[in-house]
Amino acid sequence: MKKRILIVWILAVTLLLGGCIQPDPSHPLGTTTPVAVAPPLPPEPPVDHFYQDAVYVYQTDVDESLLTTELNIDYLILANKVYVLGADHAPANLTRLDTSIVIEWQEKIEGLYLESTAAFALYEMIEEMKHAGVTDIWVTSAYRDYEYQQKTFNKHKNSEQQTISDAAMEYFGYEYIYNNYYTKGKTALSSADAEKVALSYSAAPGTSEHQTGLCVDFTTQSLWGALNTDFENTDAFAWLAQNAYKFGFILRYPHGKESITGYTYEPWHYRFVGREAATDMHCSGMTLEEYRGAVQE
Ligand code: DAL
Ligand code: ZN
Repeated sequence: MKKRILIVWILAVTLLLGGCIQPDPSHPLGTTTPVAVAPPLPPEPPVDHFYQDAVYVYQTDVDESLLTTELNIDYLILANKVYVLGADHAPANLTRLDTSIVIEWQEKIEGLYLESTAAFALYEMIEEMKHAGVTDIWVTSAYRDYEYQQKTFNKHKNSEQQTISDAAMEYFGYEYIYNNYYTKGKTALSSADAEKVALSYSAAPGTSEHQTGLCVDFTTQSLWGALNTDFENTDAFAWLAQNAYKFGFILRYPHGKESITGYTYEPWHYRFVGREAATDMHCSGMTLEEYRGAVQE
């Protein structure tokens, strides 16, 4: 009897800790549905806290009381290929981003929305950046709901099915493409292979952290609003690399961490985690997965 109570108790704690970020078993893309149940995340990051000794210096009049002053687990939500958000997950306090920082065509279509604390931190960060002389910066993507992700992912998958892209060549390697496609006279990927390539750079519905309302994609006028790795050659990128953590943002998909984050390098994608956690990750070089103790062995 005692044993049964213990099992029920363990199950209840597991469900409680896992909350809404358990894998979604009804995921529409079979191959992306995690096979094992994601382990519950530790309630506190099990790491050293660099932020406790950090001194933050700002050139502009930053209201630090609104940048979060202690670790806040709400801003450490993990959304990736293992920790899948449900179709209904939506951030509580979305606010429409000020038009002055949003790329014009996005603003015209529908506007961009972000969780309100993250939006405040973003405004402060951009003001500081502009004060430092880096004025060419645009936000081109922020909150994306489930349906939007579905459309985006399908668009990427369909485009991979039209051809054999550089991304496909990089993903599979020349030998695989040669043996499976060129020798058979085929010039476009199969549906299954197109899905694999698309998944290496585009999140399947429910797995994009854009659904948390806590991240943004940046671009610049000099790049004509494009979203590609040329962003790393901009002044904005150089400034963000040094300063984003002071405002609670981290470069979410760095070079060399692809096997941990599940995504190729994205110099344009910044995630709000709160100033303290961002400082910890900036100083330790950890990704959010590592920081949350969620790296799969
Ligand atoms: N490109 C990022 C991973 C996304 O689609 O959310
Ligand atoms: Zn992004």
